[in-house]
Amino acid sequence: RMPILEQCYNLMDFEAVARQTMKKSAWAYYSSGADDEITMRENHNAFHKIWFRPRVLVDVEHVDTSTSMLGTHCDMPYYVTATALGKLGNPEGEVLLTRGAKKHNVIQMIPTLASCSFDEILDAAEGDQCQWLQLYVNKDRDVTKRIVQHAEKRGCKGLFITVDAPQLGRREKDMRSKFSDAGSNVQNTGGEDVDRSQGAARAISSFIDPSLSWKDIPWFQSITKMPILLKGVQCVEDVIRAIEVGVQGVVLSNHGGRQLDFARSGVEVLAEVMPVLRERGWQDRIEIYIDGGVRRATDIIKALCLGATGVGIGRPFLYAMSAYGLPGVDRAMQLLKDEMEMNMRLIGASNISDLNPTLLDARGLSIH
Ligand code: FNR
Repeated sequence: RMPILEQCYNLMDFEAVARQTMKKSAWAYYSSGADDEITMRENHNAFHKIWFRPRVLVDVEHVDTSTSMLGTHCDMPYYVTATALGKLGNPEGEVLLTRGAKKHNVIQMIPTLASCSFDEILDAAEGDQCQWLQLYVNKDRDVTKRIVQHAEKRGCKGLFITVDAPQLGRREKDMRSKFSDAGSNVQNTGGEDVDRSQGAARAISSFIDPSLSWKDIPWFQSITKMPILLKGVQCVEDVIRAIEVGVQGVVLSNHGGRQLDFARSGVEVLAEVMPVLRERGWQDRIEIYIDGGVRRATDIIKALCLGATGVGIGRPFLYAMSAYGLPGVDRAMQLLKDEMEMNMRLIGASNISDLNPTLLDARGLSIH
């Protein structure tokens, strides 16, 4: 028997329902990781190496979970990260995530390879709702320039260039499941024919330019005034380089374990990065985000204590949307909000700005 929505008590519950109810090929595309899926598993497990050192007798009658990301005020320190092909899971696609994000005043990152068109997703936003653009850089830079400038004109507030995918990873579950579903069409990249016999990931990989390098960053800075962030940075050396080239932020991410297997988890890399930045006094020169494996508010709190400005959450919202549509997305966000308030109270933090490294015992991470 399939649980009803009210029987989903945490984000993992949506995954269990999605696994049973989604089309096999759609499930395979969403749930797969690269190769042996060691990194995908580690994304989740890494959070289990961090423990709390709560403070007691702090007045936590009123707990405020709101914060600011790239200058935008939002009600929770997470954003809905970019995940391609939303219509594989639900015929309405990414606009459901837009509506859920609106209701909960959280930010949505729009993927280049969305199933809905950019304009549909932008049109679904209401009022001053904040959206960011995730960019796969096309070999044809005119195409890329058009996408970026259109997004800026339509009010996107951040440009996240994905830098961990010069070639898409090998997701074998996805490859085995022959990719031929309705909803698999990518709208934003112009009508090139793609080979769908190798799974969804292979089908869309032909749009990405593997020659992209640090030398290209000034070009992006010349075509947009949006803050630029690099999504998929994985070590402190590249964070320092990002600061030196003058981008506004990085996402420490391994693409949800879908790219390089044995890449470290974002939270592990965060623990490597922050002490070095603090030592140089550079911690305020850049905003650091992480994503991968965030399933509980405690995961979010751990990342913020270590120094992240916010975290991205991917699969859980896809699963909630696939299993229950908009009410699923709404409930997933409400559960996170409730978890966040409770756990901030229990850790002795009434504001996001109270979260700091002394609230953690992170000695279980290999770098701390
Ligand atoms: C992704 N991710 C991703 N990232 C990106 O930059 N461009 C993209 O098109 C996609 N597409 C995509 C599809 C699916 C189905 C998944 C699961 C992920 C990666 C995504 O932005 C993010 O890094 C991870 O999803 C975070 O991990 P969790 O929250 O899914 O564990």
